[in-house]
Amino acid sequence: MTQYQLIDSGHGQKLERFGAYTLIRPCAQAVWRPTLTKEWGGASAEFDRESRWQFREKIPDMWTLSHGGVQFRLSLTEFGHLGVFPEHADLWETMRPLVIPQSRILNLFAYSGGVTFAAAQQGAQVCHLDASKGMVDWARQNAALNRLTDAPIRWIVDDAMKFLQREKKRGSLYDGIILDPPTFGRGSQGEVFKIEQDILPLLSLCRDVLNTAPRFVIFSCHTPGFTPMVLSHLLEQTLPQGHIETGEMALHSPHALSIPSGSFARWTRD
Ligand SMILES: C[S@@+](CC[C@H](N)C(=O)[O-])C[C@H]1O[C@@H](n2cnc3c(N)ncnc32)[C@H](O)[C@@H]1O
Repeated sequence: MTQYQLIDSGHGQKLERFGAYTLIRPCAQAVWRPTLTKEWGGASAEFDRESRWQFREKIPDMWTLSHGGVQFRLSLTEFGHLGVFPEHADLWETMRPLVIPQSRILNLFAYSGGVTFAAAQQGAQVCHLDASKGMVDWARQNAALNRLTDAPIRWIVDDAMKFLQREKKRGSLYDGIILDPPTFGRGSQGEVFKIEQDILPLLSLCRDVLNTAPRFVIFSCHTPGFTPMVLSHLLEQTLPQGHIETGEMALHSPHALSIPSGSFARWTRD
């Protein structure tokens, strides 16, 4: 059962429930009017980029959330993130049937590990990579929450591009890769990642570390202008002949408007 819900959005903000707490956060896409009224008054806290978190009730330093079949430790960060990107969960669901027990899955830009645990629950061996040691530590705590401490998960703190170059040299191959790169990021040694200039070489390296009969590559991002068609073109130019499905990631609300939240492209072998 999911404990996350998008309650409403509008006037540049979104109102979301994360378990026991409802939060208001900025949402640039929500240029429309809110659908609901009184629900906004019941929020536990509000984040804005100038004054950070404004509390209307006490929120613990950490609490847990079940979402997309995965347990997460949540915490309010100074950037307005909480330790989960809820819109990504639909991709974990479509990935699960593609993951075969014992297969080798690479999760790049892995953040708090939603993909890692969805794949590990299917019996895969997962390589979880993020440049931030703090995020890898956070994901390891989530592994314990998901009773996956002893699962075959390789925890890597590294720059995605450097790691792929090393894996290629070592001949280390994968059956499936999932990546959710940021618009701009830094590797573990301060390496700069800019999606417009780095995504083609990164995807080419992904191809180089796929085994001879790979199952899938799932690529998503939140970068403005990186529409489903852009992602599809990138996979067509870098991956072997296959089937590509694309779409918009979205947050759906039972009583209000959905929020577009990035794009995805999923490559599978014909
Ligand atoms: C958009 S988040 C990924 C969200 C994730 N897919 C999820 O839904 O849980 C981007 C992540 O990329 C990491 N990152 C940024 N630059 C990186 C780089 N050069 N190499 C590896 N990881 C990087 C950040 O530390 C951050 O955790």
